[in-house]
Amino acid sequence: MTVNVAENKGLEDVVVGPSSISSIIDDVLTYRGYSIDDLTENASCFEEIVHLLWYGRLPVQSELVALRDAIVAGAIIPVPVLGWMATVSRDANPMDVLRTAVSMLGLYDPQRDENTAEANLSKAIRLQGQIAALVAAFERVREGLQPLDARPGETLAWNFLYMMTGKEPDALSVKAFERALILHADHEFNASTFAARQTASTLSDMHSAITSAIGTLKGPLHGGANTAVMQMLQEVGTAENAEPWIKDALAKKKKIMGFGHRVYENGDPRAKHLRAMSKELAVRTGEPKWYEMSITIDDVVKREKGLLTNVDFYSASTYHYLGIPGDQFTPIFAVSRLSGWAAHVMEQLANNRLIRPRAEYTGPGHQVFVPIQAR
Ligand code: COA
Repeated sequence: MTVNVAENKGLEDVVVGPSSISSIIDDVLTYRGYSIDDLTENASCFEEIVHLLWYGRLPVQSELVALRDAIVAGAIIPVPVLGWMATVSRDANPMDVLRTAVSMLGLYDPQRDENTAEANLSKAIRLQGQIAALVAAFERVREGLQPLDARPGETLAWNFLYMMTGKEPDALSVKAFERALILHADHEFNASTFAARQTASTLSDMHSAITSAIGTLKGPLHGGANTAVMQMLQEVGTAENAEPWIKDALAKKKKIMGFGHRVYENGDPRAKHLRAMSKELAVRTGEPKWYEMSITIDDVVKREKGLLTNVDFYSASTYHYLGIPGDQFTPIFAVSRLSGWAAHVMEQLANNRLIRPRAEYTGPGHQVFVPIQAR
């Protein structure tokens, strides 16, 4: 018997399987039952969330330090991958570089041919550090600089900002980045996570699943939206130009990036935290224009179209204030979401069955083959 859900285009509202990792119920996002608001306000660092996602519970201090240090220790990029990166065109899309580099990591992983729960946890720990190191390394390489090593004793957020900018980050930048990482860590069966689970369900390997996920995250309807928001802010240019620019775009039926969501009805609960971070950074940098432009766009789109911001909207100005180039925003999303992807791959494999849905066939029927000479 087949169940036909074809009228739910894009699988809207279709529940495709169980998960105990994160949930969205009545517009409240939780990771393992903790609300995202609670975690964002109170977690000391992103690694607490990584522990929560992978081990199913919050760490005690010794466990947190052990995980933090294991991630930093694993943040080593194999020499051949770095050598390849040096050959990549400097104007390459950093998401394409990341997708290819993560795939290459699979070739050099010491547990390449193992797909046990223990091996996958070890791979996840290595990948968590390596993905941050890869994103930062490409930034350095394309600027003609040497990649930097992660510094033991510091968190992934601290290390990422350090490896990317070459400067020791200040406390406010680290706080903003920790929060951004926490907010992007997981989001139940979003498109890239589902891609990762589907790949894992064939009993392929962790690196293949993460590579599938990165390719899926790249699109502007998903993770690529934060880069697109920055492009929009740059085009808009000033807070005064925001209202006419948005009205013109809406009149032309253009989609405004960073607005709307498939699942949330009354707004994405992650957006307000990033809005607050953007405001705090605007004050600190003395360059309020990016925040002011953002709140004007937020107001106009809400008024004109009834659409609310999603996680990608205020993450754009937040990352810009941290000195990160716009095309690196989606790779940063991947640095955080690696934690969720890996948790889902492990959950899928713990109770696996091949994911193989059916299609509603809409093509012609009863065709009779005509040999090529007679066509
Ligand atoms: N700007 C303008 N109109 C939008 C819109 C946006 N950001 N998001 C949705 N809409 C409109 C659509 O044009 C459509 O209108 P119509 O019925 O008159 O054609 C309606 O709202 C439904 O949109 P649809 O694209 O079918 O919704 P969806 O559930 O398939 O898509 C998103 C959800 C997130 C893909 C969609 O809101 C979007 O494209 N947003 C911009 C990209 C983005 O920020 N992505 C990151 C998501 S976290």
